[in-house]
Amino acid sequence: QEEVFKKVISHAKEYGFVVQSSEIYDGLSAVYDYAQNGAELKKNIREYWWKAMVQLNQNIVGIDAAIFMHPTTWKASGHVDAFNDPLIDNKDSKKRYRADVLVEDHVAKIEAKIEKEVKKASKRFGDAFDREQFLNTNHRVLDYQAKADAILKRLGKSLEKEDLADVKALIEELGIVCPLSGSRNWTDVKQFNLMFGTKLGATADSAMDLYLRPETAQGIFVNFLNVQKSGRMKIPFGIAQVGKAFRNEIVARQFIFRMREFEQMEMQFFIAPGTQKEWYEKWKENRMKWHLSLGMGEENYRFHDHEKLAHYADAAADIEFRFPFGFKELEGIHSRTDFDLANHEKYSGKKLQYFDPEQNKSYVPYVVETSIGLDRMFLAVLSHAYQEETLENNTSRVVLKIPAVLAPVKAAILPLVKKDGLPEIAQKIVDELRWEFNIAYDEKDAVGRRYRRQDAVGTPLCITVDHDTLKDDTVTIRFRDSMEQKRVAISDLSAIISAEVDM
Ligand code: GAP
Repeated sequence: QEEVFKKVISHAKEYGFVVQSSEIYDGLSAVYDYAQNGAELKKNIREYWWKAMVQLNQNIVGIDAAIFMHPTTWKASGHVDAFNDPLIDNKDSKKRYRADVLVEDHVAKIEAKIEKEVKKASKRFGDAFDREQFLNTNHRVLDYQAKADAILKRLGKSLEKEDLADVKALIEELGIVCPLSGSRNWTDVKQFNLMFGTKLGATADSAMDLYLRPETAQGIFVNFLNVQKSGRMKIPFGIAQVGKAFRNEIVARQFIFRMREFEQMEMQFFIAPGTQKEWYEKWKENRMKWHLSLGMGEENYRFHDHEKLAHYADAAADIEFRFPFGFKELEGIHSRTDFDLANHEKYSGKKLQYFDPEQNKSYVPYVVETSIGLDRMFLAVLSHAYQEETLENNTSRVVLKIPAVLAPVKAAILPLVKKDGLPEIAQKIVDELRWEFNIAYDEKDAVGRRYRRQDAVGTPLCITVDHDTLKDDTVTIRFRDSMEQKRVAISDLSAIISAEVDM
């Protein structure tokens, strides 16, 4: 699977999806640029989310708040005090690590041993092998599992109590070595705030310390009353937003899974106190439906309910997706209580209450939020789409089976040869369709190679203009996934493409 992931990353670069930022200067770690096909795919994911959340819900509206916010925002939100990662340095290599990730990597090694036992046994027992039964009865496996569980439990407890000395003690007891130097010479564990600081204003004494927002949510909370009043919104209602967020992540790995500059698609749903459980369940279900609507396989998603909660939540769950490196968080659904609005009231001195005509009283609303990383969703789509297929005639192709609604290019128009007036007809078709769809035109190389190029960027439809087109105004349409070909009239193209790619 790691091999496949490497191929996805190099494919993303080679075909104009994602490249490292400032690559000519050897790049910037955990910062990425989206190239021509990537920007289209990202835009389509954003629109698919916006349509489902804002356009299809009468009681949800969208906003676009600034990245810079008044610095007190982050005191009120708890990010100044609580948005930290526990860090540890290795004294010999001078490399810095997240202490919790070091421990989790150690646990992953124990789990790999379990997998090894499973493999050995399944080879020995063949068809008679029952994985579940083996995991529940084999003594060696049970010992490994117990060890892994105990380590994670202790880590969780120490982090919750902010007992950093115990996190260090755990690392020493487990004998964890620095991946770079192999040494066990660790410093103490320290908390490190993830927010990026910057300055507003020109002169040294008038400059104001600001943070780049680490989540888009706060732009919604501070606008809650503006939107409620100007939109005459009645509870329950939601405010949605898509925008950049910034976190000084220490462990930056797995390509665009964890970035320092990324985009979030968030929706805060304002509700009456006491109804949070019901709405939390509703939004969990609703968001899972959105994911499944893309047809990327029910078996590739699962919920993970949190035991350890963020500083603002009374319940939280992740929707996890099966990435090439395993099941990992894709989206979070959080019941945030009145934590944020109540704190903004406290810090700003402004009332952030809603008068509920049904209950005939005012209150600070509760909030259930859905929060998904746009880049992470992009990675889910891209890694799921990437397939290497062996074809009947023993050739092979690399194809991106991106859901057609998200595909960067919807159709490619290809004149069979570069003469006899075929390019002119093909160009005319392009001009007729390009207002409605993102269309590509390609006349270079044999048509088979052009099909492969379109497969590699995930274009759902290829339309070939040939000599018969001159006689009867028909073209050949080829479908990406089945590679099936059909003869259709030029005048039907718009409707055919629509049926394939529209939301
Ligand atoms: N407002 C709630 C919030 O920000 P979160 O769980 O910290 O919650 C929500 O982030 C989502 O944002 C995650 O599920 C993930 O998809 C995305 N995300 C968070 N940090 C990220 C990073 N460093 N790079 C890419 N995506 C990230």
